[in-house]
Amino acid sequence: MSTHTTDLWYKDAVIYELPLKSFYDSNDDGIGDFRGAIDKLDYLEELGVTAVWLLPFFPSPLKDDGYDIADYYTVNPIYGTLDDFREFVAGAKRRGIRVIIELVINHTSDQHPWFKRAKEAPEGSSFRNFYVWSRSADKYEGVRIIFKDFEDSNWTWDPEIEQYYWHRFYHHQPDLNFDNPEVRLEIFKIIDYWADFGVDGFRLDAIPYLFEREGTSCENVPETHAFLKELRAHIERKHGGEIMLLAEANMWPKDSAAYFGEGDECHMNFHFPLMPRLYMALKRHHRQDIVDILDETPEIPSVCQWATFLRNHDELTLEMVTEMDRWFMWEEYAENHQARINLGIRLRLARLMDGSRRKMELMNSLLFSMPGTPVLYYGDEIGMGDNCYLNDRDGVRTPMQWNANLNAGFSNANPQELYLPVVIDPEFNYRTINVEVQEKRHRSMLQWMRKMIGIYKDHPALRSGDMQLLFPANERILAYIRSCPSETVLVVANLSYKPEVVELDLSEYAGRSTREMIYETPFPQITDRPFLLTLGAYGFYWLQID
Ligand code: GLC
Ligand code: CA
Repeated sequence: MSTHTTDLWYKDAVIYELPLKSFYDSNDDGIGDFRGAIDKLDYLEELGVTAVWLLPFFPSPLKDDGYDIADYYTVNPIYGTLDDFREFVAGAKRRGIRVIIELVINHTSDQHPWFKRAKEAPEGSSFRNFYVWSRSADKYEGVRIIFKDFEDSNWTWDPEIEQYYWHRFYHHQPDLNFDNPEVRLEIFKIIDYWADFGVDGFRLDAIPYLFEREGTSCENVPETHAFLKELRAHIERKHGGEIMLLAEANMWPKDSAAYFGEGDECHMNFHFPLMPRLYMALKRHHRQDIVDILDETPEIPSVCQWATFLRNHDELTLEMVTEMDRWFMWEEYAENHQARINLGIRLRLARLMDGSRRKMELMNSLLFSMPGTPVLYYGDEIGMGDNCYLNDRDGVRTPMQWNANLNAGFSNANPQELYLPVVIDPEFNYRTINVEVQEKRHRSMLQWMRKMIGIYKDHPALRSGDMQLLFPANERILAYIRSCPSETVLVVANLSYKPEVVELDLSEYAGRSTREMIYETPFPQITDRPFLLTLGAYGFYWLQID
């Protein structure tokens, strides 16, 4: 058990996923940058988020949006300079916003000097062995291919040295060889370097794939967990346990939870198992998918925390659902085949919810009331749309929509120069869906999100309370109690497209009064008879039990 962690800030944070490129362009070259993000820190403060997660900002050929790193130690000039980064961190901290950055260590770009050096180094040398080589492509047979629509093997032939190299993602992203102790040392150096800038956490990209072992799926192998324990111990020794590690491990619940170790691996971990099931339950108008996955999710060490999310910069992944569920999701949410990619769906929340405020609110109400730290994806707070006709996952990475002016107020560049076009879809046009419009309108999505974040921050039961599921006879209703010593909150959500009635057994709270938490409306008193509620289509209540 880790004893060093003195500050558990990540346990009740609100994290905002922020791709610099997409946020705000300060120098009119069509690409968002650090100075632009600095200008928008007030916006983030007002939204109420307490941490930002910055997507990769390192020098890179940008063939995988920066997840193909060519230099770990500086800022890509298109985003600014190290000084800009420093200023961003300082500005964020002044506003009480923590900064999480990316640690992409499973692989590098093929343009990284380590890869070039590996090819020049003699066979068997440490430099050569920074990467994983093989004379035959039969090694590690049967390991799944993640970018299915783009790659047909995890091996790519290198004609110069006449061997194959291993890559779990694009062929231009060779996997580092973690069996090489020199590689592991380099990783520690990278962490120390960025920790000294005062970053509060690292998202560990693609962490299940670090080590390969013959005869396994090459995922979640014991050596990978052993390395994570070493990494955590190193960080605590050098940086005093203040730095949070957030795992990206898209796995089944048990394998996913393993990334917490015994509180001695990652502090946080995305709740990938839960995410697609929220969407399934909504289309099935039935709570079972959610109940089952919560049931299968193991207890986690008390210093650890799930990171819950609805969407992110990737496709809505359906890798870890049954084949039947995957087809169900594709049929229901991606009727347009153009929206399907790899084993997932490249659409944003707003499109998945058919632009319906009610549904977006319902999903967000679950995000903010289920156990875990909520992670918001930029633009979803205004119900931004997408463009699945763009390449790869670019359709969910378009410029942030600030106002109805040129380039959605994101940049003053020639519109043809933007890194990606703004969304002009008839239903989600930036002229109507933007921050300025929603700032002015009292009941806009943005104002609603601010309110929800505020309530979440004011109520410890929502942030860290225990969760007790209720099982009313009406299975279209998901209901649970979140409670901590100081308060009790009842959450009731209607997953159905039509109005529903539910009777809850709350007899253990008989005599206590209830109050709706968003508009502070007094609700009925609890008695020892069934507590009856009616909910509109996709409606929900957060009721405080006083
Ligand atoms: C992670 C990132 C994704 C990237 C991949 C390869 O899954 O979220 O965007 O393409 O790793 O680095
Ligand atoms: Ca710029």
